[in-house]
Amino acid sequence: MAAPARARVIICCGSGGVGKTTTSAALAIRLARSGARVAVLTIDPARRLADALSVGDIGNTAFPVPVPDLPPGAALHAMMLDSKRTFDDVVERFAGGADARDRILRNHYYRFVSTRLAGAHEYMAMEKLYELSSSGDYDLVVLDTPPSRHALDFLAAPEKMVNLMDEGVMRWLVLPASRGGWRMIEKGSDILAKVLRTMLGERTITDIAEFFSAFQSLWEGFRQRSLDVRELLRSPDTRFLLVTTPAPGARAEALHFLEVLQRSHMPFGGFLINRCAVAPIHAGPPRFGPAPANVPEPGYAAMIAALSEGPDRRRRLVAAQEGAIAELRAHAPGAAPIWRIPEMDEEVHDLAGLDLVGKYLPDATALAEVRP
Ligand SMILES: Nc1ncnc2c1ncn2[C@@H]1O[C@H](COP(=O)(O)OP(=O)(O)O)[C@@H](O)[C@H]1O
Ligand SMILES: [Mg+2]
Repeated sequence: MAAPARARVIICCGSGGVGKTTTSAALAIRLARSGARVAVLTIDPARRLADALSVGDIGNTAFPVPVPDLPPGAALHAMMLDSKRTFDDVVERFAGGADARDRILRNHYYRFVSTRLAGAHEYMAMEKLYELSSSGDYDLVVLDTPPSRHALDFLAAPEKMVNLMDEGVMRWLVLPASRGGWRMIEKGSDILAKVLRTMLGERTITDIAEFFSAFQSLWEGFRQRSLDVRELLRSPDTRFLLVTTPAPGARAEALHFLEVLQRSHMPFGGFLINRCAVAPIHAGPPRFGPAPANVPEPGYAAMIAALSEGPDRRRRLVAAQEGAIAELRAHAPGAAPIWRIPEMDEEVHDLAGLDLVGKYLPDATALAEVRP
C-alpha cells in the first residue's frame, strides 16, 4: 500500500510575544475556511485561547475544533504539545519490546532527559509535526514554535540528535556500563568520582549508564527519524513564516531568523507583521464644534488641541512602521511576501478574534504560490 500523501507544513516562528500562537491558530482557521483539512500544533497557548480551540486539558492528541460554517470536506484539528508524552511515545515506538520500553520509562535519568534536557522540548515539537504531517489525515499542518531561550534551537534540534548519535557519545557512555566501568567510578574514591557524585548525585551515575544502555535498542529508529524530520524541514512543501511586530527588537530578531533559515536551506515563505498601527480613516485633522455650554472654554480648547494631534501622530507612526517594513523586505530574498495584521482593539482569545486576524493572512493558494 502506498504511503499516505504528506501534508504541507507551515511553521510560524519569531521571538517571544510577537503573536506566533495567535497567528498560527488564526492561519489554521483561515486555511480550513478555504476548504483544507488542517491541523494546528500549538505550544503553551494562553488558557482562554486553549479553551477556544478545545485543547484545554487534553494534550498530545489532535481534536476537532468546533469552527462554525466550515465548507464540506474541510476540517480543523488542534492539539497542544505535551513534550514528555511525545517522548514516551517515541520510546514506545522504537523500543522494540515491552522490556526495553519499561527499562527506559522507569529510569530516573530518562525523566530528566525527557523533560529538562536542553532541546528536548524543541525536538519533540518537530517529532509531533512529522507525525501529524505524515498521518495522511491532513492537507496542511501549521506549527506554532516553542518559546526557546534561544529562539532557533528547534531548527537545530534534529541535527543535534543525529550528531549526538553519530559522534558516538552514546557508545562512549555505554561502554563502561557493560564493563562495570561506571560501577568502578561510582565506588571509586578518586577525584573524578567525587566530582561526578557531587554534580550528579549518588544514584544518577547508575541511572545514566542504565539509560544509555537501554536506549541502544532505540538508536537506529531514533536516528533515522531525526534524519526524516530534518528532511521535512527542508522539503519544498514546507514554508517558514517569520512573525514579527514593527518594533525594532522584534525586527532585528526576525532578520536574524531569516539569516539562519537561509544558511540552513529552510524554505522561507514570507513575513507576518503583527500588531501594525492603523492609519486614521479620515484625511486631515478632525473637526470640532464650539464648546458645549457646560464645558469651560480653556479646558475645551486644550482638549481639542490634544485630540487634533492624535491622527497626525498616528499617521507618523504608520509611516515609520512602513519604513521599517520596507527595510525588512530589502533584506529578504526576491519578492518576499508580507502580510500585515493590525493591532486589534482587544486580545485575541476566541474563534471570532482568530477569524478577524485570519482575514489578513494568506489562504492556501497564496501560500502555495510563494517560491522560497
Ligand atoms: N494583532 C493583535 N492585536 C491585539 N492583540 C494581539 C495581536 N496579536 C497577538 N495579540 C495578543 O498578544 C499576546 C501574545 O500573543 P501570542 O500569540 O501568545 O504570542 P507568542 O506566541 O509569540 O508568544 C496574546 O495575549 C494575544 O492575544
Ligand atoms: Mg506562544
